[in-house]
Amino acid sequence: MKRILIVGATSAIAMACARLWAAEGARFFLAARDAEKLAALAGDLRVRGADVASFQMDANDVAAHAGMIEQAFQAWQGLDIALIAHGTLPDQSACERDAALTLREFSTNGLSAIALLTSLANRFERQQGGALAVITSVAGDRGRPSNYVYGSAKAAVSVFCEGLRARLSRAGVALTDIRPGFVATPMTQGLPLPKRLTATPEAVAKRIVAGIARKADVLYAPFFWFPIMLAIRCIPGALFKRMKL
Ligand SMILES: NC(=O)c1ccc[n+]([C@@H]2O[C@H](COP(=O)([O-])OP(=O)(O)OC[C@H]3O[C@@H](n4cnc5c(N)ncnc54)[C@H](OP(=O)(O)O)[C@@H]3O)[C@@H](O)[C@H]2O)c1
Repeated sequence: MKRILIVGATSAIAMACARLWAAEGARFFLAARDAEKLAALAGDLRVRGADVASFQMDANDVAAHAGMIEQAFQAWQGLDIALIAHGTLPDQSACERDAALTLREFSTNGLSAIALLTSLANRFERQQGGALAVITSVAGDRGRPSNYVYGSAKAAVSVFCEGLRARLSRAGVALTDIRPGFVATPMTQGLPLPKRLTATPEAVAKRIVAGIARKADVLYAPFFWFPIMLAIRCIPGALFKRMKL
């Protein structure tokens, strides 16, 4: 029976993952900042037969991380999986006018995840096993004028993961960097996303749950973002800066 910690558990993508894991008989420790949504999710998973413990926490409250992680490990005497899923889609032009907002968004999407990964890595390393996973984004693969605050925060997490993964592999701990493309969730509600490239949270969750189970290193979700981003990463910088992206 898998013991799973999810931070940002009330995200649409995380909830879809949790429902799949619940069907496998998992036990959960859920962390999220909205108590009402957290209680609703815990109730839903219990109806599906899962054991659930929960913890209210803002991911930017780094001082709260250690206590949350300790409780998660104690709740089910260890953890098999920890998924970090929280995030925000910043208003790029508002960030351009306000350095404090830029740093706040960078903290939510980058620094808070890096802090969580640091503490979780030490705990999983001591346990000598398990799987860490974090949702970054295809936006971290290239800096675009329309969302480079978000993209650079996600890129920082991805590069952090690359180094941490190599360290953790010596302790038998996996680390999956999940890079979704467009997903129809509350985060993207109202945005004019291209229909054919926009996935459901359920489809992305299927790929995430399977990817974590096979200890994937980097997981584009859906898969077709892998060749798309490969091509985009190959565009020379001099040309890329003139493209409307
Ligand atoms: N949707 C996409 O197209 C897309 C694409 C690439 C990557 N992603 C990434 O996928 C992950 C999940 O997002 P989603 O699409 O499922 O969107 P979502 O449903 O809007 O979920 C975002 C979650 O992050 C939580 N959150 C935001 N700031 C937080 C903070 N400071 N502390 C704790 N929780 C916080 C939100 O909590 P509240 O409910 O309390 O607001 C919400 O549960 C995010 O990391 C996002 O960047 C999404």
